[in-house]
Amino acid sequence: MNVENLVRKNILNLKPYTSARESHLDGILLDANENSIGSVVAHDWLELNRYPDPNQRALRKAVSDLISVPQENLFFGVGSDEIIELFVKIFCNPREDEVIICEPTYGMYKVCCDTNDVAAKNVPLDSNFDIDLDAVKNAVTEKTKLIFLCSPNNPSANMLSKEKIFELAKSKEVMIVVDEAYIDFAKHSGLAKEAVQTPNFAVIRTFSKAWGMAAVRCGYSVASEFVTKLLFKVKAPYNINKLTSDIILRAISNKEKYLKLVDEILNERNRIAAALEEIKRVKKVLPSDANFISFAVDKPQTVFSYLESKGIIIRDRSNQFNFNGYLRVSVGTIEENNKFIEELKNILL
Ligand SMILES: Cc1ncc(COP(=O)(O)O)c(C=O)c1O
Repeated sequence: MNVENLVRKNILNLKPYTSARESHLDGILLDANENSIGSVVAHDWLELNRYPDPNQRALRKAVSDLISVPQENLFFGVGSDEIIELFVKIFCNPREDEVIICEPTYGMYKVCCDTNDVAAKNVPLDSNFDIDLDAVKNAVTEKTKLIFLCSPNNPSANMLSKEKIFELAKSKEVMIVVDEAYIDFAKHSGLAKEAVQTPNFAVIRTFSKAWGMAAVRCGYSVASEFVTKLLFKVKAPYNINKLTSDIILRAISNKEKYLKLVDEILNERNRIAAALEEIKRVKKVLPSDANFISFAVDKPQTVFSYLESKGIIIRDRSNQFNFNGYLRVSVGTIEENNKFIEELKNILL
């Protein structure tokens, strides 16, 4: 497997911009046209006048310790959404190459393909919302450079089969990216270790869900050193700002709180699932390895609008390909979940 063959030639040959802070973060810094005197917003605990570290060293060290993968295999983006986009940019020539996505799934894979003028080929998930291995294998052509998979999958909430993912990575010369945004809520620990060792396989994760840091916009990838270097090559010079870096480091230093939040969400998820199962006109409740539950009803739009009129906003996913009739609800606080269940009963019982 030679991943280099999959990369766009212009990206392989790219001489990246070298930013001033790449070589020096300390000293008498007169190299980056910063404001050395200070900044308009000044606190002694917050230095804002210097560009941040383009090599993301502090974050790479902290997450390396957190998930036990080498720093060289980690890259941080402005949310995992930025990393999804960078993968398309690195591997796909516009109007030439193709990406495979398996719907129903997270909408940004297709949007990133569309904005880059790259064809997104949909190979639907099977009736259990798992990878249709033969169909995906058959869909791969010499134009296919990338396959996006989401595990646990948004919106069906299930993990994809690990065996199928690795069978694909083994049998096809394609870069496979598994989005593990919801892995913290799953029974299994994910595939980060495998991403370090498998040249055509990468994992994306985020601080937006279990860590409760969605406003900050920070996600990361675990990939081979080769692919990680490509991500650094194509990113904006200072994509991760200092405020983001500092506050994510603070989050990581409070792992107990993270574990507590996950625990609370799992308890509530189980409680909502049990309540939904008791409502006869809820036709199906999908088992969840995520922080949301998808459930099918007869008239999803009516149910959605009723809840909306009560100030409860869930996601109507019933028009999504291969997901007819389904609504998706995120796990909220105990009070929010009680209100949701109460109003759902009002309209469905
Ligand atoms: C599967 C999946 N991946 C990525 C994201 C975006 O994550 P981030 O906030 O890190 O950009 C989401 C957001 O809902 C998601 O559902």
